[in-house]
Amino acid sequence: MTVQSILKMGNPILRRVADPIEDPTSDEVRALVADMRDSLKAVGGVGLAAPQIGVPLALVIFEVPAARAQAADGEEAEGVASTVLINPVVEPLSDETALDWEGCLSVPDLRGVVPRHTHIRYSGVDLDGNKVSVEADGFHARVVQHECDHLHGILYPQRMTDMRYLVYEEEMEAFMDSLRGPAEDPAETQPDEE
Ligand code: NI
Repeated sequence: MTVQSILKMGNPILRRVADPIEDPTSDEVRALVADMRDSLKAVGGVGLAAPQIGVPLALVIFEVPAARAQAADGEEAEGVASTVLINPVVEPLSDETALDWEGCLSVPDLRGVVPRHTHIRYSGVDLDGNKVSVEADGFHARVVQHECDHLHGILYPQRMTDMRYLVYEEEMEAFMDSLRGPAEDPAETQPDEE
């Protein structure tokens, strides 16, 4: 298990489509997940995709801390324990989208407001080769969409629809103070790294 450095926007591995994993139960895949967990823990964040540590394979890890869990309607939701998702597919369950702040370990020091589907189903396999199919909404759905985008070479700024809401962390407080009213405030919560 090794803490790997995290690639940053511009690295070609972050721009390519990840390859599917043929044997999710292999020792190599377990070792990859161990490295990813160590690497994520070292920097702090809620999710990581394998390409972010330089491995162009279709695997993401994520968790939703109880304190950050929020349903699409803004109500409290249950957290999601540390999850490994291999060869994931994300399917929107409605046309509804919502805006909220995101950050990314591959785009350090910045935050942006990103539209995401509020209700999705994601499927794939786990480390034991078992099929996974989960319906998710709210923050859980956002995290999964963000991580799975990495497997298609997409970073969150490419999903943004209003680049005025791309902000340096150190300017966040001033930026939020400058918003005139709730109608211009796309999100009240503070973002996490993903
Ligand atoms: Ni990210």
